[in-house]
Amino acid sequence: MTQRIRKAVLPVAGLGTRFLPATKAIPKEMLTIVDRPVVQHVVDEARAAGIEHFIFVTGRNKAVIEDHFDMAYELDDTLAKRNKLKELEALKADLPLAGATSFTRQQAPLGLGHAVWCAREIVGDEPFALLLPDMLHYALSGKGCLAEMIDAYEKHGGNHIAVAPVPEDQTHQYGIVAVEDANAKVSRITGMVEKPPKGKAPSNLHVSGRYILQPTIFNLLANQEPGAGGEIQLTDSMVALSRLESFHAVRFDGEIYDTGSKIGFLTANIAYALDRNDLAPQLRAEIERLLDR
Ligand code: G1P
Repeated sequence: MTQRIRKAVLPVAGLGTRFLPATKAIPKEMLTIVDRPVVQHVVDEARAAGIEHFIFVTGRNKAVIEDHFDMAYELDDTLAKRNKLKELEALKADLPLAGATSFTRQQAPLGLGHAVWCAREIVGDEPFALLLPDMLHYALSGKGCLAEMIDAYEKHGGNHIAVAPVPEDQTHQYGIVAVEDANAKVSRITGMVEKPPKGKAPSNLHVSGRYILQPTIFNLLANQEPGAGGEIQLTDSMVALSRLESFHAVRFDGEIYDTGSKIGFLTANIAYALDRNDLAPQLRAEIERLLDR
């Protein structure tokens, strides 16, 4: 029997310099994909996978994320008085249970590995999920990415990373893993490297921002030296962990949008809007009109 995955860590301390000036006063995680903040989409995926506690690793200027996941009494009251019951119910459905969120601050931008380490006291001694909010995983069939990973974890135990192929000219932007069987849905990982130099990637499978990790990772992160880009890299500690415990890659077959890039963000907005019956027909017509311009 594997220990149940109850907690998810969401690192949301990044400055969002690629989206300035939009992110001068608004956290990049609060930019919207259609009408939901990016970070809300990722919490939705985690909730659908059965996660009960959400741990946000935040930084300065991120307080509005905490407000977003709290009850807004005045807003609820106004919606009720105006008989906007549908909107009120939707807000209530999104609200995490009281006590089901935690917030801690990273203090200094020392890298993803450091951000995850900042959550160690709140996670405690149990395996946990890690979701990078920039990366939206759009499932084409039933289950979300994290739900698929939890299925794989319940079968194999140990540690899991979601992977997907990227074009070879992009491998230097990501963590890359080598696996025993590149075509299998779940395969043992044989190597990992963070942002390999061009032409040096061990495969085209990138680490897409969803992880299930054993708490052993925290001891390794505590002593992790800076790696690629001078930052404390999670991938480097995962390499060390893979010498101690099993590591599997779970191939995600849906679409992945890197909303930290402008093209990824814009494409995600169109893709998610085209999925909505209330928006799709008119949006399709508008896109056609623009393309003919
Ligand atoms: C991080 C991880 C990297 C992963 C990527 C996915 O990099 O270190 O392994 O492939 O997220 O977005 P970052 O985007 O923070 O540079």
